[in-house]
Amino acid sequence: MNSNHLNSRRQFLGGVIAAAVAPQFIPSRVLGQETAPGRTIRLGHIGVGGQGTSLLQNFLAVKGATSVAIADPFQARREAAGKRVLASQGHEPKLYNDFRELLADKSIDAVIIATADHWHVPIGLAAVRAGKDVYIEKPLGYTLNQNRAMLEACQKEKRIFQYGTQQRSQEILKRGVELVLNGYIGDLQRIEVWAPAGNGGGSLVEIPVPDGLDYDLYIGPAPMKPCSKDRITSPASWFCSDYSIGFIAGWGAHPLDIAIWGQNYDQQGPVSFRGTGDFPTPNGLFNNCATWDVEIKFAGGIPMHFMSTNHAQPIVSKYRNKVPGDGTTFFGSKGWVSLNRGGAEASNPEWLKLKECEGDKRVLYRNNYYASFVESVRERTPSIAPIEDAVRSDAFSHLSLMAIKSGQEVVWDPKAYRIISPESLNERMGQPVRGDWKQS
Ligand SMILES: NC(=O)c1ccc[n+]([C@@H]2O[C@H](COP(=O)([O-])OP(=O)(O)OC[C@H]3O[C@@H](n4cnc5c(N)ncnc54)[C@H](O)[C@@H]3O)[C@@H](O)[C@H]2O)c1
Repeated sequence: MNSNHLNSRRQFLGGVIAAAVAPQFIPSRVLGQETAPGRTIRLGHIGVGGQGTSLLQNFLAVKGATSVAIADPFQARREAAGKRVLASQGHEPKLYNDFRELLADKSIDAVIIATADHWHVPIGLAAVRAGKDVYIEKPLGYTLNQNRAMLEACQKEKRIFQYGTQQRSQEILKRGVELVLNGYIGDLQRIEVWAPAGNGGGSLVEIPVPDGLDYDLYIGPAPMKPCSKDRITSPASWFCSDYSIGFIAGWGAHPLDIAIWGQNYDQQGPVSFRGTGDFPTPNGLFNNCATWDVEIKFAGGIPMHFMSTNHAQPIVSKYRNKVPGDGTTFFGSKGWVSLNRGGAEASNPEWLKLKECEGDKRVLYRNNYYASFVESVRERTPSIAPIEDAVRSDAFSHLSLMAIKSGQEVVWDPKAYRIISPESLNERMGQPVRGDWKQS
């Protein structure tokens, strides 16, 4: 890494974020390093619904790791996950209703957290304070204050953090962001980011809590509400404001992560947000913002247009042959590169054929996202998706939503990690929590 580059990055980020900066550009000798032979990393899995089960399958396939414990308040889910471990690794993991018992096991090196969003940071904080490294599903926190607490805790406890956005192991995306970073598009002029809209609806009709579910632990820090058939499903965890801020963060995290990956550090801090959004069923269960259209500005004046896909479709179809469900387009003085998990397009398609572009800027890349986490845990090497980038990218979602809800321009100080105006919105950087789950 060029030391001037690093210095300017530190000056820019300032304060709490700067103190925890992890290198993103790294020397080639590190890129080429082999994983040293070492001990088997012992993993615990917290939350084994749809995504947690898929992650479990992925980690079971990683050499040098073993899944030794599962925690989920849904008995049937933790038992099903236990059977997967038995079938794959030939041993029975310990099964827990309560993740705190899993975290008390000192033999566990790292945990994979794939609960609903409102649990990500409370469990993540408990995990790093218990000495575990953490892989946490996207989006990061339910509030901006949670995100800062997570950053500070990872920094203080010197824990490895990997953000569950996944795409930093897709070779085409690595090549795409390196084209941007090495100036193929010229000077960066603007960015477009889009992600699928959320849903309204959801039943509020009360049902008995199903057998085998610890409902109190499932709800955790969220307000206690009557159980309904939809409240205990993943759509509630995405679209109900008790558990998340909606797809503006939940799906937005994917293309925003690419936007962070492909930017020059000196242009990073977003400083202003202005936009509109739609809440199709504000009194229903799925009451989150479903569609959004937000104009963001960076400190250097570069604009970013952050939209739900319905808003992006007519804009992106003017230059992309195919408009994918989510995406990130970097526009420069000499052309554009547009990236998403399904592929890439560019103003000059020849650029995308280059295995290695010219220029010395390289991002940290591993072709297996899960093996990469295990390697970082074992070797204490930098995470490919570090906490600093998760905090940055999730801030776009939270601040966009604040601009939509307030109907005002939100001016943000990324160095101080606070809202300059409207000043009163600083109170909304945190949320009350139920019971004794306040840890940040
Ligand atoms: N990276 C991706 O592409 C991707 C895809 C889907 C979902 N996700 C994310 O994964 C997370 C989970 O989503 P999902 O669709 O799997 O939801 P889900 O409802 O299927 O799974 C969540 C699980 O967490 C469990 N849980 C709730 N409270 C818990 C606690 N206190 N301790 C342990 N487990 C607890 C639930 O019982 C459930 O089994 C969400 O944050 C979502 O945004 C990421």
